[in-house]
Amino acid sequence: MPGAVVVGLQYGDEGKGKVVDYCAQKADIVVRFNGGANAGHTVIVKGETHKFHLMPSGVLWGKRVMLGAGTVIDPKLLLDEIAQAQKAGIKPKLLVDYRAHVVTPWHKLLDGASEVLKGRQKIGTTGRGIGPAYADKVSRIGIRVGDLLDAGKLREKTRFLNELNSKIASRVYSIEEVPQDFTAEYAEYGRQLAPYVGMLSIELNMALSEGRKVLFEGAQGAQLDVDLGTYPYVTSSNTTAGAACAYCGVGPKHIKEVLGVVKAYTSRVGEGPFVSEINGHLADKLREKGKEYGTTTGRPRRIGWLNLVAVRYAAMINGTTGLAVTKLDTLSGLEKINVCKEYECEGKMVGQHKADAEFLKRCKPVYIELKGWEDPGPAGWRAMVKNGYNALPKECKNYLKLISEFCNAPIYMVSIGPGREDTILLKNLF
Ligand code: IMP
Repeated sequence: MPGAVVVGLQYGDEGKGKVVDYCAQKADIVVRFNGGANAGHTVIVKGETHKFHLMPSGVLWGKRVMLGAGTVIDPKLLLDEIAQAQKAGIKPKLLVDYRAHVVTPWHKLLDGASEVLKGRQKIGTTGRGIGPAYADKVSRIGIRVGDLLDAGKLREKTRFLNELNSKIASRVYSIEEVPQDFTAEYAEYGRQLAPYVGMLSIELNMALSEGRKVLFEGAQGAQLDVDLGTYPYVTSSNTTAGAACAYCGVGPKHIKEVLGVVKAYTSRVGEGPFVSEINGHLADKLREKGKEYGTTTGRPRRIGWLNLVAVRYAAMINGTTGLAVTKLDTLSGLEKINVCKEYECEGKMVGQHKADAEFLKRCKPVYIELKGWEDPGPAGWRAMVKNGYNALPKECKNYLKLISEFCNAPIYMVSIGPGREDTILLKNLF
């Protein structure tokens, strides 16, 4: 019966990896439904740091983990992550949907080339070939994971793609140095991945009808959704909760909870509008304290105050039933905290977020100023975790209450550090 989705309500990097890892403990299956190696999550278990880009976070609990048809897979990276898990003493119980698309060297080359050609209009992609891989998918010329297991089909597809992309590279981008034919290399990846490839929707629906608990893990955040985010400054997949169903072949009746993850402030990596962005000393301080550097690219993240107008919109389009608020520890120690609760656009007050990049570029934030809370230090936070939600500083609880009211959803989880133990749980997802 129960399926639950975990999604980011901002621009990605809300701390979903930790939240999914925490919730995965009670799940039977964890499924990643969108994106590819553009995502990156860090999970700290017993002081040891684990970084994955493709592997669902539940792998560290030894759970059945899956990659849905809506993901795009860099096969070499996935094999490396399987090896990484094995090195940590875990034999991944992984299932990759045979319909998931494969990222090829062409995709990475064209991702970079298109950014260069766009110049000032560039998106600031992660350079992992994500956009071109999804473009091939919808153009119906992509290579799927299942094709890696069929040498004849793979050869036929790569021959066509090599011919097409060589022309695009030279005639559109004036690039002469192109990838070597990768058919044999990818066939070998296919051979190694074969034990993990299967029909995800069937196993997943059977599991759900048997009452097993399935956690759907979203990558990126609502504002990066290709349809509902700040287009064109978005990723190339649907990142919102509905996509868990569409990308995995599971009906909406199975989704009982949608947990929206909100970072206590905002960060964004890449280009695009950012209404509540801040610069200068405070931004630098939060970036350092919160280690706000891209897990995938290492780029410094842009920093801003919490934008509740945008988060409320994200909570709505996801059908959020509960919230996980992360990184309250990073925000501590500030005398005053600003929260954006309205926009001002050309002299008019606007209370509703509009996912329109041009509109958002014209908006200025209207802040309410809240009193901050003192940094209790590691021992202080540990004591609060032990004593539960009520032990949090009054100002911190007010902050959480405001987020909850704006999003019309209760707080299920509060995270005050990267470790599993740095968590206050108010309600279990399952
Ligand atoms: P792409 O997904 O690599 O095509 O990048 C498109 C936009 O999404 C860029 O602004 C990236 O920085 C951003 N992006 C993609 N994946 C993530 C993520 O996991 N966290 C944060 N931003 C991301």
